[in-house]
Amino acid sequence: MAQMYNKEENTSRQPWWETGVIYQVYPRSFQDTNQDGVGDLNGVIQRLDYLKWMQVDCIWLSPVFRSPMADFGYDISDYTGIDPLFGSIDDFDRLISEVHRRDMKLILDLVPNHTSDQHPWFRESRKDLHNRKRNWYIWQDGGPDHTPPNNWKSVFGGPAWEYDSATGQFYYHAFLKEQPDLNWRNPEVWQAILDVMRFWLEKHVDGFRVDVMWHMVKDELLRNNPSQPGTDPASDFYDDYLPVYSTDQPEVHEIVRAMRELLESYGQKVLIGEIYLPVSKLIHYYGKDNKGAHLPFNFQLLTAEWKAEQISAIINEYEGALPEGGWPNWVLGNHDQRRIATRIGLPQARVAAMLLLTLRGTPTLYYGEEIGMTDVAIPRSEIVDPQGLGFPDLYASRDPGRTPMQWDSSPYAGFSQTKAWLRLAHNYNEVNVANQQHAPASMLNLYRKLIDLRKNEPAFTRGAYTPLYTDQQVLAYVRAAPEGDKFMVVLNLTAGPARFDPPHQQWHGEVVINTLPGREGLPTSGPILLNGDEGLIIRLEPGAGQPEDPASTEGLATTGSTPPRIR
Ligand code: GLC
Repeated sequence: MAQMYNKEENTSRQPWWETGVIYQVYPRSFQDTNQDGVGDLNGVIQRLDYLKWMQVDCIWLSPVFRSPMADFGYDISDYTGIDPLFGSIDDFDRLISEVHRRDMKLILDLVPNHTSDQHPWFRESRKDLHNRKRNWYIWQDGGPDHTPPNNWKSVFGGPAWEYDSATGQFYYHAFLKEQPDLNWRNPEVWQAILDVMRFWLEKHVDGFRVDVMWHMVKDELLRNNPSQPGTDPASDFYDDYLPVYSTDQPEVHEIVRAMRELLESYGQKVLIGEIYLPVSKLIHYYGKDNKGAHLPFNFQLLTAEWKAEQISAIINEYEGALPEGGWPNWVLGNHDQRRIATRIGLPQARVAAMLLLTLRGTPTLYYGEEIGMTDVAIPRSEIVDPQGLGFPDLYASRDPGRTPMQWDSSPYAGFSQTKAWLRLAHNYNEVNVANQQHAPASMLNLYRKLIDLRKNEPAFTRGAYTPLYTDQQVLAYVRAAPEGDKFMVVLNLTAGPARFDPPHQQWHGEVVINTLPGREGLPTSGPILLNGDEGLIIRLEPGAGQPEDPASTEGLATTGSTPPRIR
């Protein structure tokens, strides 16, 4: 294990979600303790010491609430009850106190856009036209011959309207028909969900990740969405339409603001929004005067073409678009996506880790990324994800990225003592936490070193980001805060060797982290020759002639609230 950095840093002015690292636990797949093949809350408790060892600050727990599991917990039938599959409310209380005892935070998944069709609210609502909960959901008459009210499609395929013969109306569901959308134009719905938030805040949770935040409000007139140019106007695919009327309505920001106000009345709590929108629209979720979401998830690295020029453009666009005081964040993966190591390959996943943990803003890790877990090929007959079942020909299943955490090489990978709900990676006896903890050059130890450096150097937690150079292979930037050391990050985003000439010839530094073994601790200066898939973090020696010296990088914009100064 290479050296660790234990410098004192002054982060007192920054809230924890700005300096911290968030780790997403998908509880079904993290740790099973009752041997039913599905992870549970006691399993998360059992692995807290590992997360603490990783120096993770905050755990985001995907839904553990009562649910028929049509969408694996994103279809909730009781917002304040724990599903027996995961444990009990006592287990939850123990989890939160164990998290806090380790000086970590816990945030929950809030799913306010839709409930399960088994939720008592919906069961009530569908009973009759004049029911007191009728207007809690989006009910609408159809056209002649039971044609749906408009052309909106479900994200999981097919029309987003389900005909309900009991009352002769349709209800809207952006996802499964088992997930009816709540009507956020009804103030009673606001109150009910804010009460749910209060319930968990009273249990001292540290915030929420809000599911599909941009879906919450729909066009009042339910107008048809325009089709994407060049697609069949009768298509049944969600992606063939521009969801301009079914998502991202201006009124959503009032709701986000109300959620934020409630959170703030409980202290330093974080509000994160799941929002798949282009940057120009995403930034509105910071809200007027930054009173919206603290962290509207920035998902650009999930879909970016993995090329230096593209990634550089994405960073610059995002940095440039952020509102004054809006805190950035970055994500490489989550439970809805293919894993990063599958998308770009294992060697580049190490470079991606260095990128994620050295960019300006809060990083969110998805469980298993830290050991380089890859997607597991799930045979068609074993697909359980509704998105996979909805689009069998496209192989859209999210199962491959949700397989059990690989802890060790014992049978069932230390995840369980029985067959898991999804099959394990065939190579789990090589790729696992236990092996990697003892291998200094492992992905796990790379993650750990990166997190350690990030947490101990103000340059990374609060410093400015200055782009330095990009070509078809290399992405280079400087991170620097007024206090502490300055760092140059040089990433080769290709498998071939590359050369980078820092703008000033006379610079000197020391390699502090290398994605490949060999250079850590070495002094360095002059042109930098990189192996394929190599990334370097270089601590710059104080003094003139540093690569970020404005004299040598004229015209480069620096972003961040604390512009670097040349010492
Ligand atoms: C979010 C969740 C996803 C779920 C969907 C519907 O996108 O991340 O897993 O299927 O919402 O709730």
